Amino acid sequence: MSDEALVLSEAEQYVLEGGSGLAARKAMQILVALGKIYGARRMIPVSSVQIAGVSYANLGEAGLQFLDELAEGGGHCRVLTTLNPAGMDIENWQALGIDAEFAHQQQCVIEAFQRMGVVTTCTCTPYLSGNLPHFGEHIAWAESSAVCFANSVIGARTNREGGPSALAAALTGVTPEYGYHLDHERQPTLSVEVRASLERDSGGSATQEFGALGKLIGERLQAMELRPVPYIRGVSRASLEELKSFCASLATFGGAALFHMQGITPEASAYTAPTLTYEVTRAGLDAARAELTDGDVDAADFVSLGCPHLSIREIARLAELLAGKHVTKEFWITTARPVKQIADQKGYSAVIEASGAKFAVDTCCVVAPIEGRFKLLVTDSAKACYYAYAKNHFKTRLLPFDEVVREALR
Ligand code: F3S
Repeated sequence: MSDEALVLSEAEQYVLEGGSGLAARKAMQILVALGKIYGARRMIPVSSVQIAGVSYANLGEAGLQFLDELAEGGGHCRVLTTLNPAGMDIENWQALGIDAEFAHQQQCVIEAFQRMGVVTTCTCTPYLSGNLPHFGEHIAWAESSAVCFANSVIGARTNREGGPSALAAALTGVTPEYGYHLDHERQPTLSVEVRASLERDSGGSATQEFGALGKLIGERLQAMELRPVPYIRGVSRASLEELKSFCASLATFGGAALFHMQGITPEASAYTAPTLTYEVTRAGLDAARAELTDGDVDAADFVSLGCPHLSIREIARLAELLAGKHVTKEFWITTARPVKQIADQKGYSAVIEASGAKFAVDTCCVVAPIEGRFKLLVTDSAKACYYAYAKNHFKTRLLPFDEVVREALR
């Protein structure tokens, strides 16, 4: 704990003393405690919040009760606030085999957030569904992949919030100023030289390669004493989809919330590369991918794309690959409801659903309660592989996007 005092404004003190209601007081108490732990000297306004920990499978009864208390205590969002994926497709949960009791409890969680004015988008890519901060904006986001994307790709400023601290920021409109809100904390401290070209599949996507890259660099960061901010050179191009895959993987395997990529991310040109250097080779990338592949492909019984949630461009490619064909395995396509609505308008959803693949909107293969239902997951996402094994005890195969679809059809 820092010796520097955290000084609240008059308005913040008023909230802390209960002047704005019980929920706002509770929220300010959480933020003050956090600020003291991390040595913040003041609160700063935030313009956007993303709340994680939405699945009833993670929250349980105690979490639902906490949310109900805040809603009943007059809790109301002061800024644009969106939600991470829930444990089920809110409208179509039966088709995914979710049981009715879980569905009821999950609905109660969503309703508690709604009562507090949260936009219940239920996606880990809020930046594709209207919650898109701009460069330099202070925000309070939870969801590790989105935090990494917001800090690094957009250049907004957020710490890696937990569910309660993000909700507290939403109910007060402020967050303690420490960590990645401060200039000096955003300085890179490790150079990463990528000495391999990242291979693209037949559709031009390298999401799986970027996932392997995130795993390799992330594990290097984990092994170092003070978790460095990497400055990455040698990547000549990266699409939005590849960057979201990279962010998810880097955050999962390295706990990283910020990186700079020369020629690609907005703050990279403000810094020079640190001297301490780590090299990424083709052999390293192949080994990282191999470590996420531990099952015989013939045993695959579950296929999923959309970790993080799919963009409309990825759904268009999926429709192209599935047109006139039939899948032979349970195939979940996870995305945000607003993106699915665009897919409906474009006719992509009809083509995809005619193949037998299922949209799992508002949720994903990690937060849905599916432990024990499948043996081997095929996906293009390094993060999904990690959690499929760690949380659900599935074996996994990491393949390029187009090959994942081919596997679903085989
Ligand atoms: Fe998103 Fe679920 Fe993956 S929340 S990043 S699709 S684990």
